[in-house]
Amino acid sequence: LPDAIFDGRRNSAGLDLTDPVAFGEMHAAREAFRRTQWLATPLPVDSAGAETTPVINPADPSDIVGQVVSASVAGVGAAIAIAAASDWSKTPVATRAALLRKAADLYEANSAELFALLAREAGKSWADAVAEVREAVDFLRYYADQAEAKALGAARGPFAAISPWNFPLAIFSGQISAALVAGNPVLAKPAPQTPLIAFRAIQLMHEAGIPADAVQFMPGGPEIGTALTSDPRIAGVAFTGSLPTAHRIDRAMAENLDPKAPLIAETGGLNAMIVDSTALPEQAVRDILASAFQSAGQRCSALRILYVQEDAADRTIEMLKGAMNELTLGNPWDLVIDVGPIIDEPARKKIASYVEAHRANLIHALPAPSRGNFVAPTVLRVGGIADIPEEIFGPVLHVATFKADELDAMIEAINASGYGLTFGMHTRISSRVKKVSAAVHVGNVYINRNQIGAVVGSQPFGGEGLSGTGPKAGGPNYLPRFTDGYADLQSA
Ligand code: NAD
Ligand code: ALA
Repeated sequence: LPDAIFDGRRNSAGLDLTDPVAFGEMHAAREAFRRTQWLATPLPVDSAGAETTPVINPADPSDIVGQVVSASVAGVGAAIAIAAASDWSKTPVATRAALLRKAADLYEANSAELFALLAREAGKSWADAVAEVREAVDFLRYYADQAEAKALGAARGPFAAISPWNFPLAIFSGQISAALVAGNPVLAKPAPQTPLIAFRAIQLMHEAGIPADAVQFMPGGPEIGTALTSDPRIAGVAFTGSLPTAHRIDRAMAENLDPKAPLIAETGGLNAMIVDSTALPEQAVRDILASAFQSAGQRCSALRILYVQEDAADRTIEMLKGAMNELTLGNPWDLVIDVGPIIDEPARKKIASYVEAHRANLIHALPAPSRGNFVAPTVLRVGGIADIPEEIFGPVLHVATFKADELDAMIEAINASGYGLTFGMHTRISSRVKKVSAAVHVGNVYINRNQIGAVVGSQPFGGEGLSGTGPKAGGPNYLPRFTDGYADLQSA
């Protein structure tokens, strides 16, 4: 593609998995980390920190990946004092941007170790791990470019960055880099399931030259998140995770923080795809498979409900079953797999019991490995989106059929769910594309392709309604929310 499309910018090249030489070399480099035992601690070290907890590979209970020492609530208070006294906001924007770019280079230079951590700590397949390191690098470089290209307003002050386990490097790094480049010192809390890769990311940021008081690391669970979001010295919160947690944070902030402190929240979705009878089934099935089952369905963007037009349903579902039978499940360390594990045992149990309760509606399921936290990709029949009680965060696809005159009712039902993250459509009727994309209230619409894997800088990502507050991550409107506005707009 010509450079003009990228506005002079290029995304990270990543790793070409179809190139046997490049893949073979990286595979061998990752092997060096097969038995590494990582350790994550609060940074700066928290003398009141809790005892060490093991981090277990979700695909293999005998593989202990490392240990984590949680931060303490007292340690959070001390860290916020350090952040409040930091003079990071006085660092020129060009220097902040240069430090982010240096960190991006270090991520790329250490990608074999990051791939190893993504496989062993987060259960990521090769394809997912490569995409995740690319996305993290892209966030660092894109926000660096944006900060220099825009006349941003003043920094707000200490920011809490609270992230989920399903993108333990990319979302973690994206939140931190946006807040940092806008001039805010950051207190970063990773998800308790994935502290080790987050710790390595912070070490690489420090190695790049980002000062220790500008980015601090607070591993732990909800109690550390609550301590951060209830402290009046916090000037803003970037959160990605579930809707109930976003509500809790909103309430804590309303009670304790300055009312001007923003909550930038990205949450879940009940994401739909419509396949009408003009769609090419071979293409639709490939994209359904990727959207529903890649990352074992553990993406906020993942397809949860597929609407197939009645006269195309039998053919599409038969083809989908056949394609599902070709998927490989297993430990991403041992095999080049399509579907990896569920992040932990409580999450596996929750998804498995949902499937069990809906077994009467089973259309198709694969067998799951008996060792490790696996749930087999499963397809269930439903009447419509109203039949799905909540976001089922795993490889469970719901299927409903529709008649040609039910399109408007279906869009109404999708909108009535209150969520609005991603939406996909397979059709060859362009007037239908225009009509439906305008009517559906979601952040990201994908036509005749899969609906996951938004690319930083080209496909800003984020939802409406219950799916998030905006602004979209990886897009031009994200950074101003971390400041008190565009400087040029303020002076206008
Ligand atoms: P979660 O809400 O359980 O946890 C997210 C983070 O919040 C973790 O770091 C957790 O420790 C912390 N936390 C929990 N309780 C807290 C509290 N009371 N105060 C402050 N922090 C608290 O979510 P999860 O299970 O880690 O992630 C999966 C969810 O994330 C799914 O709902 C998914 O859709 C969503 N998600 C959304 C996006 C997006 O961009 N919209 C991206 C990825 C994941
Ligand atoms: N940004 C991620 C995706 O688009 C969540 O799949």
